[in-house]
Amino acid sequence: MARVAKKTARGRIAPKFAKVGSGELVTLFDFVRYAVSRFVEAELAFAHGTTDPVAEAAFLVGEALHLDPEQFEAFAPARVTAAERKTILDLIHRRITTRKPAAYLVNKTYMRGLPFYVDERVIVPRSFIGELLDSHFGSDGEAGALIDDPTEVGRVLDLCTGSGCLAILAAHHFPNAMVDAVDISKGALEVAARNVGEYGLEERISLYRGDLFAPLGDNRYDLIITNPPYVDAEGMAALPPECRAEPKLAFDGGADGLNVVRRILREAPDHLTRDGGLICEIGRGRELVDEAFPELPLLWLDTEDSEGEVFWIAAADLG
Ligand SMILES: C[S@@+](CC[C@H](N)C(=O)[O-])C[C@H]1O[C@@H](n2cnc3c(N)ncnc32)[C@H](O)[C@@H]1O
Repeated sequence: MARVAKKTARGRIAPKFAKVGSGELVTLFDFVRYAVSRFVEAELAFAHGTTDPVAEAAFLVGEALHLDPEQFEAFAPARVTAAERKTILDLIHRRITTRKPAAYLVNKTYMRGLPFYVDERVIVPRSFIGELLDSHFGSDGEAGALIDDPTEVGRVLDLCTGSGCLAILAAHHFPNAMVDAVDISKGALEVAARNVGEYGLEERISLYRGDLFAPLGDNRYDLIITNPPYVDAEGMAALPPECRAEPKLAFDGGADGLNVVRRILREAPDHLTRDGGLICEIGRGRELVDEAFPELPLLWLDTEDSEGEVFWIAAADLG
């Protein structure tokens, strides 16, 4: 047994790790294997940029060594130094004892291959909209494209921007667009500002603090992107510890999860251009949304890891 449990003064179980002898773990692969064994043993949840213990372990080991994820395989058989060994083991053990998402431990996550700074002020980016921007808003004229020509998109709004990840992906996707991004959380906007700065997009992305559309006046957009809070009360009560380390404001969608989504659907028509459209992630509330808005021809979009959790609606259909 590598881990023995000990009760703390507060009655919580504090995992204690058996000493890893020097020379027992040698290569990057060895540390990934060790991490996977410990993660599975500790029954961690994986939902923050990785979806399984192997990917999570490879991410942590790679970040500890400042390796680009693309480089991991090439270096996997390489040995680590004593100092690196200490850093890696510390991260692996902190992932288990704190139950924080790995992204918070290294202040970084990747979305669609791009790195973003993150800390506890923002939810760790994992919106399905990132993939949908590639699959349905591409410039290669593929079937199912929802916007004819990405270069003609002039104004984009990212509502509930958090870390700014979707605003930044949108700025890359729609090269001629000016992007507005709104969040109600001061801390989230500080993180978003940092990411916008790191991508040198200050001239194209404007950040606003406020309640949904409130700070935007009469502005209208060709595209509104939003990944709002949409977890219902039952889901909130069942969040794993990893998600409880994230801001509650990012999840809490009220009793049925749709408090914010309803408001967005009601208010969006006043902020879309005639040919514009709204793409909105809603989690598992599809039936409820369909029931609440039977008159709306919502187009449900699937991704590699989701079915019917994001809808698209054209402004003309929104009323
Ligand atoms: C699910 S997170 C999405 C963050 C980011 N777009 C992403 O995909 O990673 C939802 C965000 O909405 C923000 N938020 C919650 N209620 C809001 C409101 N009424 N108006 C604006 N932002 C809100 C939260 O602070 C949080 O950053």
